[in-house]
Amino acid sequence: MKQGELVPVSEMARRLGVTRERVRQMILEGKLEGVRLGRYWYVREREGGRLRRVYTFFTHAGGAGKTSLARDLGFELARRGFRVLLVDTDPQANLTSWLGVREVAPEETLLHLVDTGQLPTPRRLSEWGLDLIPASLDLARVEVRLMQRPLSTLLLRTTLRKTEGYDFVLIDSLPSLGHLAALGALAGDGLLVPVETSVKGVEALVGVMEAAQEYREALEQVDPRVPRSFVRLFVPTKFDARTLGDNRVLEKIAGLEDLAPVASPIAYRPGPHRRATERAVPLQLVGDRQAREEVERLAEEFLQRVVAQDAAREGVLEVAE
Ligand SMILES: Nc1ncnc2c1ncn2[C@@H]1O[C@H](COP(=O)(O)OP(=O)(O)OP(=O)(O)O)[C@@H](O)[C@H]1O
Ligand SMILES: [Mg+2]
Repeated sequence: MKQGELVPVSEMARRLGVTRERVRQMILEGKLEGVRLGRYWYVREREGGRLRRVYTFFTHAGGAGKTSLARDLGFELARRGFRVLLVDTDPQANLTSWLGVREVAPEETLLHLVDTGQLPTPRRLSEWGLDLIPASLDLARVEVRLMQRPLSTLLLRTTLRKTEGYDFVLIDSLPSLGHLAALGALAGDGLLVPVETSVKGVEALVGVMEAAQEYREALEQVDPRVPRSFVRLFVPTKFDARTLGDNRVLEKIAGLEDLAPVASPIAYRPGPHRRATERAVPLQLVGDRQAREEVERLAEEFLQRVVAQDAAREGVLEVAE
């Protein structure tokens, strides 16, 4: 086994979104391999690589919060020092315009990927500390190309795995179960599924789970490490705690824990969300403390309940369990 680089405990704590104390405890419990050099402890990471995890926000239900979550979680991870790439696969290009990016050439989008087999060069958004592969209406042509060349649907997966320099790639998909949605979903190490806290939101889950299972079976042929549940996180969104209906639905969503972790709900906050899109900034920057704290909590839960688990299972981190 190739031995990896030694990561200081503080750095590993930052990456996993846990305290240094927790990392020390994980070393004591044998979950991480600790190495002592002089006075300091380090954690050994395999293959010297960064985590490089790819997750796709996925649901064919429109307006569930995919794009908002991709923007805000992406920004939150970047703020914590992770190197983040966002990929917009939606011809509507909401993620792209919500991050203030306009005038996108077709060569900058995933159209370039299906035409040339090469990932387009991402835009560096220094204001947000992250990179973006933007979208434009030209992406609608990708749907047609993928129909003609179905094997190209794996291109995003294969090219992203060869791309260096990112800790996290977050893919925003579109409200469909077509080829573009498959391109995004199949590229992921797993799916992050926003579920609108409404009857309609829960009803959409049947289709999501069917699609997830289909993608997982397809991926198993090329990658034996695909997790048993391809959905890695459910995120209840637009939750209105004051209504009985939303509370009932939230209880139902909580029942999904058997399938995958369920994040704490994201509240319905039309004002802050509208301000974020109008000003083309992430939600954390519109001056609403509760909205910001909610995103921070989501990042913690994502790092602890999804990333740490996935990394451990795949042996990216040395684990003795
Ligand atoms: N928690 C929230 N509270 C209030 N409004 C929200 C919330 N999350 C998202 N919105 C708003 O709801 C609309 C849909 O959200 P968003 O675009 O993120 O969903 P989506 O799943 O990406 O939609 P689509 O399927 O069209 O791509 C947007 O106008 C967004 O600003
Ligand atoms: Mg969207």
